[in-house]
Amino acid sequence: MPRTAALAALALCLCAAPALAQDGQQLFNLQCSFCHNDDSMGPKLAGVADRKIGSTDFEYSAALKAKGEAGATWTDAELDSFLKSPAAHTPGTKMTMSVTDDANRAAIVAYLKTLK
Ligand code: HEC
Repeated sequence: MPRTAALAALALCLCAAPALAQDGQQLFNLQCSFCHNDDSMGPKLAGVADRKIGSTDFEYSAALKAKGEAGATWTDAELDSFLKSPAAHTPGTKMTMSVTDDANRAAIVAYLKTLK
C-alpha cells in the first residue's frame, strides 16, 4: 500500500473513534438513564424538547419549577446551558450531573430531541 494511503487509513481510524464516543444515545445510557429511566430519581425525559421547564409530576426543586412558571421551555440553548452546569443554570437545582465536553453535550441534546 502506498505510504499516503496508509496514512489516510490511519487518519480515518483516529477520526472514527471520537465520533463513536459522541453517540448521544450511548452517552445518555452511560450518564443519564440511571436517574432518568423512570420517575423515581429524576423526571421522565420523553418529550422534554420544547417542554415547559419543570412541568412533569416529578417533585422538582423550587428553583427549577420557578423557571418553568416564569415561562421558560427546554430549547436547545436551555438544555445546553443546563447540562453544561446545572448549578449555574439553576442555582438550587437537585440535578448535579454536568457534561463539560461541548461535543458530548451537543450529542446528548440531539438525542434528547428524539425522545418522544
Ligand atoms: C443523579 C441523578 C441524575 C443524573 C445522573 C442525571 N439527572 Fe437530570 N435530573 C435529575 C433530577 C433530580 C432532576 C430534577 C432537578 C430539579 O428538580 O431541580 C433532573 C432534571 C433534568 C432535566 C429537566 C427536566 C424537566 O422536566 O424539566 C433534564 C433535561 C435533565 N435532567 C437531563 C439530564 C441528562 C441529559 C443527564 C445525563 C447527562 C442527566 N439529566 C443526568 C437527576 C439526574
